[in-house]
Amino acid sequence: MEKELKNITFTVIENGTQIPISTRHGSYPNLMYLLKEELQLESFGECGGVGRCATCVITTKGLTGAAAIKERNEPTTLEKLGHSDEATRLSCQIYITPDLDGAEITILEI
Ligand code: FES
Repeated sequence: MEKELKNITFTVIENGTQIPISTRHGSYPNLMYLLKEELQLESFGECGGVGRCATCVITTKGLTGAAAIKERNEPTTLEKLGHSDEATRLSCQIYITPDLDGAEITILEI
């Protein structure tokens, strides 16, 4: 419980610019919503987080725990785009938990 109350801090890289983000456990439904709102990314996350549109693709470094595991539609959607590496993810499939703390997230151009 104490771990969930701590600030979750990570770095987002957009167009080569590093943006520090500090948030709380569960502050958004998932990482896609946080990135869309905090960085004002208009065409990001078009399917609303179902894991089908692939407009929320990121690369990741330093995810831990459950955040590091691809589940549900994510592997299939990414493989259709030719992304089978572990670092490439759909941000809508990553929850805002302490597993994000210290991670580096890069927004991919699509
Ligand atoms: S919001 Fe559509 S795949 Fe993530």
